[in-house]
Amino acid sequence: MKKKIVIASDHAGFNLKEKIKEFLTKENYQIIDIGCYSCNSVDYPIYGVEAVKKVIEKEADFGILICGTGIGMSIVANRFQGIRAALCNEPFSAKMARLHNDANVLVLGGRIIGEAMAIEIVQTFFSTPFEGGRHERRLNLIESLTKNESS
Ligand code: RB5
Repeated sequence: MKKKIVIASDHAGFNLKEKIKEFLTKENYQIIDIGCYSCNSVDYPIYGVEAVKKVIEKEADFGILICGTGIGMSIVANRFQGIRAALCNEPFSAKMARLHNDANVLVLGGRIIGEAMAIEIVQTFFSTPFEGGRHERRLNLIESLTKNESS
């Protein structure tokens, strides 16, 4: 069965979110759409937090977050333990984010890339497996070395 994906954006990512949703639905992925639901100005942390919680609670296998640059959503998502959010505005980063970083959240810049590029990034991200091995050791190091760093 295809993966369940939670998707969220702010106003700057809304149009791209709709296009990606359409594509993933056609590809038979299950989608949870957290919003936003129009181009009216909203605050991206609210949507980013709600989306990553679905990944942490295992209600979704992966997340996609979109804001204007992708930077704000990345900052929000990577505050959560167990979330590995990767801002990928071209396919090579998307491939490496899966192969080496086992990224579970894909972040896109809605004001940076167009629909065709976004679809290619999404396709690459979801068709690339984690390589494991030495990369798993490094991910474990991220967890252990940063465990008590936030207060
Ligand atoms: C909204 O104007 C913009 O700041 C937001 O979409 C995002 O790019 C923040 O990082």
